[in-house]
Amino acid sequence: MGIIDGKAISQAVKDEVKAEVAGIAARGGRVPCLCVIIVGENPASQVYVRNKVKAAAYTGMESRQIELPESVSEDELLAQIRSLNEDPAVDGILVQLPLPKHIDEEKVLVAIAPEKDVDGFHPSNVAGLWIGKDCIVPCTPAGVMRLLDSTGVDLTGKTAVVVGRSNIVGKPVAKLLLDRNATVVIAHSRTADLGAVCRQADVLVAAVGRAGLITGEMVKPGAIVIDVGINRMPDGRLCGDVDFASCADVASWITPVPGGVGPMTIAMLMKNTLRCYLQNFKSASRK
Ligand code: GUN
Repeated sequence: MGIIDGKAISQAVKDEVKAEVAGIAARGGRVPCLCVIIVGENPASQVYVRNKVKAAAYTGMESRQIELPESVSEDELLAQIRSLNEDPAVDGILVQLPLPKHIDEEKVLVAIAPEKDVDGFHPSNVAGLWIGKDCIVPCTPAGVMRLLDSTGVDLTGKTAVVVGRSNIVGKPVAKLLLDRNATVVIAHSRTADLGAVCRQADVLVAAVGRAGLITGEMVKPGAIVIDVGINRMPDGRLCGDVDFASCADVASWITPVPGGVGPMTIAMLMKNTLRCYLQNFKSASRK
């Protein structure tokens, strides 16, 4: 069994971005700029946003962090997004989720200019992914694919089971696996006999947010197991959706939590920001 080292792979991705940004700076260009908006004081969101800003600094990009109070109105948030859409110094816009209950998440995601949508959550990017256009791919699913690539295993003809059907992870990762010619099953909380479905998987991606849901007897011997879950336990420890101890003995490759998918999300965000910068720069110079 091999452990897929998300920390090392994410570092390599960040270093790729860093080298490109250094090249831009050396040519006297404006470096890419990521703008992160956080609403309210969700402690987990605060940690994620801090890490995103830190990663941007590491790669040599600029970043802006806009902190809005929990009480901010939907209109004020939308106005803020529109002003960033118009700002030529901003290449990527990310609104950290979840948002307070009084704000309509869908309205917010639609308001972000698709060409600055570093999360890949705008409906036009979501549609683009599903019809096979080369567009911005959500960060966590892109990170999962990069981890799978690191194993060198060809996914063609393999059975992939994705447990979880969220818009952020489950659905897009299923499409990306399909693009690699895997036979894809999306399982979820209502799936009958989840164990039997999971045991079919050559590639098992767990993204449901239930600590330790996937146990060793649900894993096919030799499967690749990717754990997207980040569950905070009462004692403060982080725990994945996969019971690492029992699954590690059965899998050929497995990701740990922490140090697996988590750091990849941020690394792919850096890649997406650079991509938006390069694409917008190109389309601006065509005007
Ligand atoms: N909240 C949890 N995951 C994400 C993510 O990938 N992007 C944003 N914007 N918010 C999140």
